[in-house]
Amino acid sequence: MRKLLLLAITQSFIFATTAKTYKTCDSPIYCEGPLLRAVQLSNIFTDSKTFVDRPTAKPVNEVLDAFNKLGKNPSKADIRMFVDENFLETGMELSQVVMESKQDLAILKSIQDPSYRVWMSDLNNYWSNLTYSFNTTFLCDGCSSSILPTKRPFVVPGGRFREFYYWDSYFVIEGLLYSELDHTAKGMIENFLDFVEAYGFLPNGARIYYLNRSQPPFLVRMVKRYLEFMDDQELLARALPILDTEYEFWMKNTTVEIVDSGSGEKHYLNRYNVEYPYPRPEAYYEDWHTAHLDLNMTENDRINLYSDLATGAETGWDYSSRWLRNKKFDGNSQFDLLKSLNTRAIIPVELNSLLYDMEVQLAQWNTGKKKAYYERRAEQRLNSMDKLLWNDEKFSFFDFNLTSQAQQVEFTPSNYFPFWLGAVPERVANDSVKLANVFEELTHVLNLYPGILTTTLVETGLQWDLPNGWPPLQYVTLHALLNVHKRITQNGYSQDLSDKVDSLKTVAKDLAERYVESGFCGWWATGGTIPGYISNLGHSTDTGHMFEKFNVTVIGRSGGGGEYRPQMGFGWTNSIAFWIFAHFQDLRAPNCTMAI
Ligand SMILES: *[C@@H]1O[C@H](CO)[C@@H](O)[C@H](O)[C@H]1NC(C)=O
Ligand SMILES: *[C@@H]1O[C@H](CO)[C@@H](O)[C@H](O)[C@H]1NC(C)=O
Ligand SMILES: *[C@@H]1O[C@H](CO)[C@@H](O)[C@H](O)[C@H]1NC(C)=O
Ligand SMILES: *[C@@H]1O[C@H](CO)[C@@H](O)[C@H](O)[C@H]1NC(C)=O
Ligand SMILES: *[C@@H]1O[C@H](CO)[C@@H](O)[C@H](O)[C@H]1NC(C)=O
Ligand SMILES: *[C@@H]1O[C@H](CO)[C@@H](O)[C@H](O)[C@H]1NC(C)=O
Ligand SMILES: *[C@@H]1O[C@H](CO)[C@@H](O)[C@H](O)[C@H]1NC(C)=O
Ligand SMILES: *[C@@H]1O[C@H](CO)[C@@H](O)[C@H](O)[C@H]1NC(C)=O
Ligand SMILES: *[C@@H]1O[C@H](CO)[C@@H](O)[C@H](O)[C@H]1NC(C)=O
Repeated sequence: MRKLLLLAITQSFIFATTAKTYKTCDSPIYCEGPLLRAVQLSNIFTDSKTFVDRPTAKPVNEVLDAFNKLGKNPSKADIRMFVDENFLETGMELSQVVMESKQDLAILKSIQDPSYRVWMSDLNNYWSNLTYSFNTTFLCDGCSSSILPTKRPFVVPGGRFREFYYWDSYFVIEGLLYSELDHTAKGMIENFLDFVEAYGFLPNGARIYYLNRSQPPFLVRMVKRYLEFMDDQELLARALPILDTEYEFWMKNTTVEIVDSGSGEKHYLNRYNVEYPYPRPEAYYEDWHTAHLDLNMTENDRINLYSDLATGAETGWDYSSRWLRNKKFDGNSQFDLLKSLNTRAIIPVELNSLLYDMEVQLAQWNTGKKKAYYERRAEQRLNSMDKLLWNDEKFSFFDFNLTSQAQQVEFTPSNYFPFWLGAVPERVANDSVKLANVFEELTHVLNLYPGILTTTLVETGLQWDLPNGWPPLQYVTLHALLNVHKRITQNGYSQDLSDKVDSLKTVAKDLAERYVESGFCGWWATGGTIPGYISNLGHSTDTGHMFEKFNVTVIGRSGGGGEYRPQMGFGWTNSIAFWIFAHFQDLRAPNCTMAI
């Protein structure tokens, strides 16, 4: 492998935006400071997110006075009393927004299987349970809450997630559009545009403690997807300059220059990159604990680890073996594993695919100099992805590891993002033989387990690893399979490839089937009922849940592991089921008694 020289750089732009100061995490309660530290390290809540989501019951200065009166080393009981006296319960900022769900949807009518049709109309009615607006009229004068205000309603993922999340929202919007709730979808996009204007980038979620990081950049895709359903040139006109700002944020904060010392060629690719020297406010105790397991760690090591933890959250994959230096997992606790995070040294395939898509899209929507600028960026990125991320022997893209200066040759569906978003060099896209081999390993991996597609082949106990399968990755893989099939058909191919080409369609259908079966059987096993078709399993209170992730070893079982208990709801899971029914016909509901 050629030797590469690396350095992080600051990019210059042809369209300099006026220097603007943006709001940062500055709350004396919900951001780094003595109060947050004392309360979170006392570990009085099983989930660290509980505290930072509790609004104050008194004006902030009174809360700070009460905290100061606790003195230097308050006991756990003192802190618990302080919190109970000065803070309200979680969830008070949220007002449910009741939405009229439409019953005569085209998508519902197209579903042939009666059980699936009833189930999907149940999910269609579920949007009201996930749609909220922030309402802080209950707050006293001078009181405070960690929410970042929004002008319009939004859909939350579900469970402990009491605010919107950036990348979840792309999938949520997809589902809202099929449910013909385009007004809500548009409102969410407008909220995001407001946020980029206010904060200079789109934060991870709508809380002040998320102001130090973003999440996979899907905003351009959201606008594009919305415009595919609705003609709305006004929205596009408002969005364009704001999307420039978001693009600029990613280029300024996350670009790495990689010099090929053989040829002298310079590459500019992106990694996730959060420089944040403290535990994450909403996972404070856990992060602090991770950084203090090893007493030999220097302060500088800890600062780096905190940044890699925050960066792991920015990837959306918190956490995964993809970001770990130490790949030996025997008997190690999650905290032990996380100690070896190396997140900022990984150039992820999906991030660069999303940025390529952004560049192509912004080139298409703009004119003149800007168009030319984005075209050049897209072309350069594609060339660099070809040189550094594409592997011509394995017929696959792989993440690039800046520490080893080599590809991470590991199976993960994030390697399929380029085939979804078109970030494929022309010499590969034109070559039917190469394309027909891209999914060789997928077929093998799908044969290992009966459920949906796994996230990696490594079992770590972390959420974004085996045995968990995540809805967005099924969506991306399905898109990739269908796109590659289409491209090969356009290119033409020789007779000896026809089995491989046909199998792309078969594999896609199989994966689509596994997805809806998992969702459906999980819903049924947790109390979902269809009168005359499937009976209630004997649940008295539950009426069926949709999981955020699945255990790939069993159809219909929730995934587990990670930092928090499995969450129900669930925005992206429901939405992707809609997308699947729109793209695959003849799906038949299974007999779930055989699955669970
Ligand atoms: C992130 O945190 C650092 C350190 O606390 C702070 O200086 C910076 O302003 C924060 N950035 C944002 C966007 O809030
Ligand atoms: C959904 O919301 C409706 C109306 O607010 C409520 O009656 C129902 O219990 C909720 N369902 C679930 C599963 O939370
Ligand atoms: C906000 O909450 C108050 C009570 O705290 C309620 O009276 C009001 O109707 C709510 N507003 C909205 C828009 O839901
Ligand atoms: C982006 O980089 C700037 C300049 O280094 C920094 O001030 C800011 O906090 C960073 N923003 C985020 C969200 O990391
Ligand atoms: C800390 O360093 C000492 C001396 O090098 C070594 O004996 C010990 O095992 C180290 N502890 C950990 C937890 O790595
Ligand atoms: C990156 O390369 C280093 C050095 O070879 C290796 O130790 C590490 O496991 C690799 N992966 C990650 C995520 O750091
Ligand atoms: C790819 O195919 C197109 C259409 O056949 C052709 O115009 C183009 O030159 C080809 N590109 C490469 C790099 O082979
Ligand atoms: C997944 O399901 C298997 C049963 O097939 C079970 O042994 C395992 O503990 C489950 N894993 C998780 C993370 O829930
Ligand atoms: C579903 O499977 C169970 C267990 O194998 C079997 O007893 C039942 O008859 C099946 N029901 C239908 C409708 O096929």
